[in-house]
Amino acid sequence: MKLDDLKKNAKEDINKATLIKELESVRIKYLGRKGSLTNILHSIGDFPKEDRPLIGQTANKLKREITNLLEEKKKYLEESRALEWEDLSLPGRKTSKGSLHPLTILSQEIIDIFMSMGFSVVRGPEIETEYYNFNALNTPEDHPARDLHDTFYLKDGRLLRTHTSPVQIRTLEKHSPPLRIISPGRCYRVDTFDPTHSPTFVQIEGLWVDYDVSMSDLFGTLELFTKKIFGEGIRTEFLPGYFPFTEPSAEVWIQCPFCDGKGCSVCHSGLIEILGAGMVHPNILKNLGYSEFTGFAFGLGVDRIAMIKYNINDIRLFYQNDIQFLNQFNEIKL
Ligand code: PHE
Repeated sequence: MKLDDLKKNAKEDINKATLIKELESVRIKYLGRKGSLTNILHSIGDFPKEDRPLIGQTANKLKREITNLLEEKKKYLEESRALEWEDLSLPGRKTSKGSLHPLTILSQEIIDIFMSMGFSVVRGPEIETEYYNFNALNTPEDHPARDLHDTFYLKDGRLLRTHTSPVQIRTLEKHSPPLRIISPGRCYRVDTFDPTHSPTFVQIEGLWVDYDVSMSDLFGTLELFTKKIFGEGIRTEFLPGYFPFTEPSAEVWIQCPFCDGKGCSVCHSGLIEILGAGMVHPNILKNLGYSEFTGFAFGLGVDRIAMIKYNINDIRLFYQNDIQFLNQFNEIKL
């Protein structure tokens, strides 16, 4: 019978098709607007009345069957085509590796050095009160650092800490000496960006309080630190300085690594200042009830040390998120 032949031919055609576009021609041949099965379905009226239901049913069933076979074959061809395209010999896609920020890398290195000397790490808030940032640190009411031009004040009277020194007070309020802590973190000062200034920077505070800590402990500790960071041959100088919260105070300078201490456009004098330090002011210890103790404190600028160590001539590079700049630190191992 005609429908049986049609079924047989359609199946053969579908089996033979190896491309999706061939399959589409098969569909058109049988099921298209002028396809052979469509023609039969359209001409059912020409058959004797009593034969029409059976022919109609059979033709519709065949239409569903052919449609299903076409669908199945299409899926099969699509899947096998996907396999053909999968070239297993291609090299894998390269994952791009990020790097830690240079200030993070260096902070971690500095933290490790002090931890190996028995210091532990504590953190303090970036939003501070005047009390912790100035008053408790023995800073007079008329000290220029308190000026609006130097400190970012919030509407409620609090401020963005100008140094990490408030952590000294917060720590001594909670823990009684003897103690040895360092505190890394971000600080803020009213400064416009230029090659050597930034309104934000990273400091690491150090504090060692015990029964008889002396200035020579301070010098020894910091000299060891500069040697570990800049190499054994580095010359470290301690010059007199002034901070309201230390007495006596010192500035720590190192021999300029750019000119080996001969004097150049970076250092002028052959020396570069890297940190401020001193013996904790007796007033501070007295106010906290620790008169029987002595201690030393220091605050070092991580940005400054990073610029010297990695030979960077513009502090703004740390804050611009320039991928090319940051990628250079990919290879520095922690
Ligand atoms: N807080 C000081 C500064 O920001 C540095 C410092 C810390 C000095 C501790 C002495 C002792 O410049």
